[in-house]
Amino acid sequence: MQRYLWSTALASVLSSACQPPTVTMEKRDSQVLSRAIVIERSESSGADANPQVDNIYQKFPAKFVVFPENRPVPGNPYYFGVAAGSEQPYQIVAPYYIAAVPDFDNRIGAPVFQNRYDEEQFLIKWSEEFVQDTVKVKRLDELAKSFRWQIDSNFVRDEEVVIQPELLANIQPYYKKTQRVLARRFTFLAPGHTQLMPRLDGTEDTIPLVIQEYTLAQIEAGKARYFDPTTGCAKCHAKGALPNLEDAYTRHSSDYLANYSDAQLIEFFKNATFPSGEVFEAVDHVHAFATPEDEQAMVAYLRNQKPSYDKIVELLLDKK
Ligand code: HEC
Repeated sequence: MQRYLWSTALASVLSSACQPPTVTMEKRDSQVLSRAIVIERSESSGADANPQVDNIYQKFPAKFVVFPENRPVPGNPYYFGVAAGSEQPYQIVAPYYIAAVPDFDNRIGAPVFQNRYDEEQFLIKWSEEFVQDTVKVKRLDELAKSFRWQIDSNFVRDEEVVIQPELLANIQPYYKKTQRVLARRFTFLAPGHTQLMPRLDGTEDTIPLVIQEYTLAQIEAGKARYFDPTTGCAKCHAKGALPNLEDAYTRHSSDYLANYSDAQLIEFFKNATFPSGEVFEAVDHVHAFATPEDEQAMVAYLRNQKPSYDKIVELLLDKK
């Protein structure tokens, strides 16, 4: 299953904010760097790290990467919705992180992190050394300035999102030094097919979008079932419903569920089967629906959930 930096970060903030690595993070190791796409290597890439040098930035100079969040599995379209007059608009917040990270590739002595905490401690130290390299800091700013979205405004309204720095600092203490975050909020306006095209300094990405039309009646019907005290979903998926499982809340977000087509979503909440064919067995996740219309109404409501960004900000503000 694809996971997102925001959700990963959230799990880290909520379960272990800056605690030593005794928590259950085995599966989350090295996620800070693992999703990045390299856009520029360090010139001295490939040289052996000198184990005598104390400065870890000298051992592992900066390469520039981009973390394109909210990006579908390559080759798959991304599914959203639109419904005239709905109170909660169908939206996505798409953050792009342009970051300087240590270039570990082909280097002897590259660290192997036991857990995310260790990785973060390393990155905090490395970032303090990185900011001494003014040429590279300038390059990072240039790359961030070169970033552009191209989007069909007939389908989508596009607004800038200013990510509150103190919230991001909670998640990644080194972010101000090494990252430039460019986030936009896209609100879907019309059904149809279009694409988002982020461009960065010569590289470009294409994110196909399928925007489906739903009705207010469907959203209402889906919502009623969602909150039904016996057959509903909110008993696990509402905010704070499952202690230590805020994941179930943030997964019901427009962007997270956009990886599923309508049919795949139905297959998951009805038969607990992922698009890969894998069956989800951690909880009983088989839910009966009286008619196909009821299933479709649930889809309309699920896609109408807030973007994960908004939910995570909400959870972080609650924690304060
Ligand atoms: C008993 C608790 C519980 C109930 C009730 C429940 N869910 Fe879930 N659901 C979960 C958990 C836990 C996950 C996380 C699955 C995972 O780890 O991938 C999940 C995940 C999901 C996902 C996302 C799958 C993914 O990619 O992670 C969807 C969609 C979903 N549930 C829909 C529903 C709907 C719709 C209902 C109500 C009809 C519902 N769920 C009721 C516990 C529940």
